[in-house]
Amino acid sequence: MSRKIILTSGKGGVGKTTITANLGLSLAKSGHRVLLIDGDIGLNNLDVIASVESLITFDLIDVLNGKCRIKQALIESPLSNNLFVLPCAHSLSNVEISGQKLKEAISSVDGLFDFIFIDCPAGIDLSFHRAVSASEEAIIVVNPSIASIRDADKVIGILKSYNLSSIKLIINKIRGDLVLSKDMYSAEEIVSTLKIPLLGIIPEDDELLNGLVEAPTEAEKAFKIIAKTLNGKTEKYYDYLKKYNGFWGSIRKELKKLL
Ligand SMILES: Nc1ncnc2c1ncn2[C@@H]1O[C@H](COP(=O)(O)OP(=O)(O)O)[C@@H](O)[C@H]1O
Ligand SMILES: [Mg+2]
Repeated sequence: MSRKIILTSGKGGVGKTTITANLGLSLAKSGHRVLLIDGDIGLNNLDVIASVESLITFDLIDVLNGKCRIKQALIESPLSNNLFVLPCAHSLSNVEISGQKLKEAISSVDGLFDFIFIDCPAGIDLSFHRAVSASEEAIIVVNPSIASIRDADKVIGILKSYNLSSIKLIINKIRGDLVLSKDMYSAEEIVSTLKIPLLGIIPEDDELLNGLVEAPTEAEKAFKIIAKTLNGKTEKYYDYLKKYNGFWGSIRKELKKLL
């Protein structure tokens, strides 16, 4: 049986697609079989980040319309032979397909994967409801900004009306220097506002601007920790303040101000 997890946020641009691809890759590299499903076409599409865009023959819509079987639409990512992508090359928002249909399609590959992640588009339209109906767990992605925290709060309210076994939070794009200078909300403040368990913390990292972390960077460390936490192996979080504590930390903080 696979764990079926939706990544959602409300607001766009917070990092759902980036996290889906990087967390999926991190789990695949540590030996788990992972399927990433593009829940709807977005700005930064999952197929591009997972390097499968030139390999698409069928997509999620073809599966849901009965044009092909789900197995025919799965693409093995060149990044890892444990990582598969079900792309979405057309917009799903206005297509009359039920959540039940998506759920059935996903159930038919249940035994093939340890994790199935559904990357959700921004907003809480039809594609969102369909994706939640097909999931058992939810990860809310939030940035340390008022707009993002408010949106996350609304989405949490909606998610609670579904029968999910867990709703957890990933705080993305946090900057230790700004938190220490009180110019950004801290992880603790966000968690105490949203009142749901924290799954992980990912720092703002320029390496992620192109989608995937390839070099060993701070973001890569953060994904590895989240992958372990998801497997129940650790309760640690990425320490986003560490780099800015102590003597060298204060110099780094000052340098950041100049950039
Ligand atoms: N931790 C991060 N640090 C720096 N840039 C990030 C981080 N996470 C995501 N990004 C960048 O933010 C933008 C939006 O990310 P994306 O994953 O497309 O968001 P969403 O899927 O929620 O709309 C992309 O340009 C991505 O590279
Ligand atoms: Mg996206």
